[in-house]
Amino acid sequence: MMKEKIKQLVKEKNAVILAHNYQPPEIQDIADLCGDSLELSIKASKTDAEIIVFCGVRFMAETASILCPGKTILLPVQDAGCPMADMVTPGALKKEKQRLGNIPVITYVNSTAAVKALSDICCTSANVIDVVKSTGAKEVLMTPDKNLAQYAASKTDVKIHLWKGFCPYHNTLTIEDVQKAKKNHPSALFMAHPECAPEILKMADAVESTSGMIRFAGESESQSFIVGTENGLLYPLSKAFPGKKFYPASEKMLCIDMKKIGLENIIESLENNSGEVKVSENMRKKAFRAVKRMIDLK
Ligand code: 13P
Ligand code: SF4
Repeated sequence: MMKEKIKQLVKEKNAVILAHNYQPPEIQDIADLCGDSLELSIKASKTDAEIIVFCGVRFMAETASILCPGKTILLPVQDAGCPMADMVTPGALKKEKQRLGNIPVITYVNSTAAVKALSDICCTSANVIDVVKSTGAKEVLMTPDKNLAQYAASKTDVKIHLWKGFCPYHNTLTIEDVQKAKKNHPSALFMAHPECAPEILKMADAVESTSGMIRFAGESESQSFIVGTENGLLYPLSKAFPGKKFYPASEKMLCIDMKKIGLENIIESLENNSGEVKVSENMRKKAFRAVKRMIDLK
């Protein structure tokens, strides 16, 4: 019933529903596109729909607003945020830029528009290495995720100054959790997200973005996988490969913010255009450069 209503509203209003790979199953099932942060940004930049309903967290809707000033971007639940994005403020970043001198600032898309506006280029977990290399610099500052920065440093010759931010879910995964999962599932490959700590990534058979993990699981001959990311990813993995087995690396990896949107919120948002996310034009212009430079790398 609710699904039918959403379909009808999407058609009437010329809308598109984009959902992150961590969203609840019923949201992923009604979305026009599910994906990782990079895929969703690219899709947002290309769609000709008038309204984008973003089922994810605030920074994702803000990125869509930065890329598409003429469109209405709806975030069906207003307080769906990303705690990591709030770990860097524009004031603190300005100070650090001054301290380090004139080096490029790379900012993970999991950040506010105000922080993007102070950055040279954005990155996601899917393109971080290409982005670091694209600067041509010997030294860069990366915000806000220390784990993503350390991962990029391990894969390039660039000196990367860290910001001390982290994802409160990925960062809790411990060596003991992974050892236990490997002991329980000895033939499974271990996939980890680069938001996990360096000691975890060393234990991984593959380090990938969320969509990267879906591709890896499909291409691999292995029949079973331990999934080192937010557990919402288990749904699209099992849906894409019903014959394969997927096990969470830890039951603790559940992002509360990613589970806030329900079908009823999408209906309400589409009916009333409620939950609009609009980055002010002044800020948008400044943030656009960094986001567009990233999108254009693809
Ligand atoms: P992806 O871009 O890999 O989908 O990750 C987004 C995110 O929020 C990870 O915690
Ligand atoms: Fe932010 Fe972590 Fe949730 Fe991703 S999983 S949205 S990084 S808190």
